[in-house]
Amino acid sequence: MQSSTRERLISLLSESDDHMSGQKLSEIIGCSRTAIWKHIEELRKEGYVVEAVQKKGYRIIDRPNNLHPGEIKHHMETEKIGQVIHYEPSVTSTQEIAHKFALNDAEEGTIVIADEQTLGKGRLGRSWHSPKGNGIWMSIILRPNIPPQRAPQLTLLAAVSVVQGIKEVTDLDAQIKWPNDILIEGKKVVGILTELQAEADRVNSVIIGIGINVNTPEEVFPEEIKKIATSLKVQSGKEIERAHLVRAIMEKMEKLYHLYLEHGFAPIKLLWEGSAASLGRRVKVRTITGELYGKAKGITEEGVLLVEDDEGEVHRVYSADIELPQN
Ligand code: BTN
Repeated sequence: MQSSTRERLISLLSESDDHMSGQKLSEIIGCSRTAIWKHIEELRKEGYVVEAVQKKGYRIIDRPNNLHPGEIKHHMETEKIGQVIHYEPSVTSTQEIAHKFALNDAEEGTIVIADEQTLGKGRLGRSWHSPKGNGIWMSIILRPNIPPQRAPQLTLLAAVSVVQGIKEVTDLDAQIKWPNDILIEGKKVVGILTELQAEADRVNSVIIGIGINVNTPEEVFPEEIKKIATSLKVQSGKEIERAHLVRAIMEKMEKLYHLYLEHGFAPIKLLWEGSAASLGRRVKVRTITGELYGKAKGITEEGVLLVEDDEGEVHRVYSADIELPQN
């Protein structure tokens, strides 16, 4: 099935409050009524429940929990972010694909999203467990006109968008552990990996990779991460519609991105601080050069974490793993 016809059909049926006749659909899409019927049969095989009523036509009454662009874009209110969506059932890593698109002049706001990653990438060279069918694994391409040293601010912006999107869709209150782990009840539910294509003084593109454990059952987490990871379904007790969550995050991100381009990092910093789990707490900081204990004092205008050690010296932390020991 050609993806554009399929997406058009889903969009038309989703946007219509009533049934749509095969005749009308075939005229709008520009194909035969038999072709429409074949597409409807395909959709049914994928788990869509499509009602067909004589003389009235077709209506979608239930849909599978998938990440197809037509589902994500359904009633999406953005101008840029998520307007171009590349969906793949299975990829090595959405970051890898987004990098290629970015090099080939992909439009700002393009997203790459997959149902499964076989080589998901985490921060600091780690792997990211990305099982099929229950998570959101996506990469977003932005092209802000900023110097490379400001790019970490966009990671913090992405974290705020995700927290806001989760709140809207699930009513769960998530917190951010610097720089970009999103936790619920102290367990990680989202990871964000930001990568750059840049010259010395100019960013060409920022590729923000977001991995969300959405409907992952507890037993699916590998043994080594079971204690530290959770999913939105485990926390809320409800199955979450993934396309709805992606849409909510795109909408939040676009608003925050406009705010950022117009007013700089200050408003984003305030929002980030409002959801920060680590500020004011004692933290253990692990960097490639060693460990540091102290109190997380805040973040700078560049998104750098400030940690005051027991001697009162304030350290600037650019890249590290933070632990929040139970006080
Ligand atoms: C972390 O280590 O916390 C960051 C994890 C980032 C995972 C996401 S999933 C989508 C995108 N593609 C990848 O390979 N990684 C990021």
